[in-house]
Amino acid sequence: MIVQKFVLTPFQQNTRVIACEETRKAICIDPGEESRELIDFINSESLELRAIALTHGHLDHIGGTDALNKHFPNAEIILHKEDEDLYYGLPQQPLFLGIQSDQFASLGFDYEDPPQLTRNWIDGEIYEVGTLRFKVLHCPGHTRGHVVLAEETEKAVFVGDCLFLGSIGRTDLPGGDSERLMDSINDKIIALGDAFTVYSGHGPETTIANERKSNPFLTGLYQISKGKYF
Ligand SMILES: [Fe+2]
Repeated sequence: MIVQKFVLTPFQQNTRVIACEETRKAICIDPGEESRELIDFINSESLELRAIALTHGHLDHIGGTDALNKHFPNAEIILHKEDEDLYYGLPQQPLFLGIQSDQFASLGFDYEDPPQLTRNWIDGEIYEVGTLRFKVLHCPGHTRGHVVLAEETEKAVFVGDCLFLGSIGRTDLPGGDSERLMDSINDKIIALGDAFTVYSGHGPETTIANERKSNPFLTGLYQISKGKYF
């Protein structure tokens, strides 16, 4: 499995190209913004981009979809149905961050309407990319329609903004729910097992074992429903 990371947007978002080494078939998980480097990588490695695979609909994960789609129009664009409102509302999303509409352009948040989705993720489906087989797990909490992609043979899980090294995703934006997020992390992500490498939407890679042992949201040090440290 080829994993190439591009750190994009002012939010330092991890855009990744994942490819099957044998067939050169590839997906891009969460193109954060237009990137010449990203397009050049796909072309120079002779990859066949099969999909723009979106974990969720936040602007820093979908902002590059339009540009990537224009270069690779045969790649399908896939997102869970429950994040469609975020996706098609991309031009208005900066309002969530307290940015007023008359400032969108000057701050670099003037998004066009994104291209039409090809289809929606289905919880539990297996998405094949050459010999890679990604299991799609619906993990609501950070957003209503967040999914993670787990590759069992490679022991790799692409978790978007559910789980980070030492932290978890924010739940204060529209559709966020901290208790649902904790359930998703525990029941879907941690349940994959200690051997999995965790590829987060921001920050460095980690492992399930490391997070289970040291992430304060998972060790019980911080109990989110109580709202304080013990
Ligand atoms: Fe997010």
